[in-house]
Amino acid sequence: MGQTPEFKRHRRLRSSHAMRAMVRENHLRTEDFIYPMFVIEGENIKNEVPSMPGVFQVSLDLLKGEVEEVYQLGIKSIILFGVPNEKDEVGTGAYVEDGMIQEATRLVKKEFPDMLVVADTCLCEYTSHGHCGVIHNHDVDNDESLKLLAKTAVSQAEAGADIIAPSNMMDGFVAVIRKALDDAGYHNIPIMSYAVKYASAFYGPFRDAADSTPQFGDRKTYQMDPANRIEALREAESDVQEGADFLIVKPAMSYLDIVREVKDNFNLPVVAYNVSGEYSMVKAAALNGWVNEKELVLEKLTAMKRAGADLIITYFAKDVAKWLSE
Ligand code: PBG
Repeated sequence: MGQTPEFKRHRRLRSSHAMRAMVRENHLRTEDFIYPMFVIEGENIKNEVPSMPGVFQVSLDLLKGEVEEVYQLGIKSIILFGVPNEKDEVGTGAYVEDGMIQEATRLVKKEFPDMLVVADTCLCEYTSHGHCGVIHNHDVDNDESLKLLAKTAVSQAEAGADIIAPSNMMDGFVAVIRKALDDAGYHNIPIMSYAVKYASAFYGPFRDAADSTPQFGDRKTYQMDPANRIEALREAESDVQEGADFLIVKPAMSYLDIVREVKDNFNLPVVAYNVSGEYSMVKAAALNGWVNEKELVLEKLTAMKRAGADLIITYFAKDVAKWLSE
């Protein structure tokens, strides 16, 4: 009889629920989540987004009730998107004083002063062509778009937004917004930059929800090529230099390697955006009874934390808050 070779007994630390909980390295907390909400023009509207079961576009008069539910679940941060009726070439609805995000922000801050309101700062929901900036010669004009983005950010801060989250991927957007906020006296309003945002097919359902599909072409001249890793570090680096306070990586699930790179290379809080298509895929499978939704969602969100995300923007926030309190 030969001798049993030496080996390690890793299973010792997995022997019971209590033992596993004791050695668990990463945890989800309700404070980690930012819940996206879509505000639509009109009255008494609560439309379920067909490609995103459980996600609704709500009109301003119903928003208080919706936010109340989120608040009661212990979620203390929401990110707002507007779905206006009127659109034009230059996205005026994004930066007028009575714009949808501005009005929604005022309402939420009045009713729930300690709810953190993150304002998505982009033009695509407000432009008739659906692009994230001003069009010249069939492409988005970077520097012209920056001016409108800065105006949008200041009007959102004026309405009471706690955090400005620019998402249009123009070069220099953090620098220009930081300066505009400072000039207007908003030194203390942080910028949560969509620093690393890929041109992704995972945004499809969001574009249904926000009615922001580009009417021609795509977003590949401003959003990043999914094949690139080093470029993500260049994008993040410039945003850090320009004064970003948080760095978003988007999408999350197929880009966990990038979340880790950004976490390891910079000293700012990293935010993973678990985007619409990632939500829809799970929902579709769950509705078919093909996966265990709760276990799958908790697994993938925990994987984002393990990859280095400090915060997660997710349409699952309400579900997870419920599960965590069970
Ligand atoms: C606006 C914006 C988009 C998303 C967040 N902000 C759409 C896009 O870039 O086309 C996508 C979010 C999601 O898919 O959940 N530019």
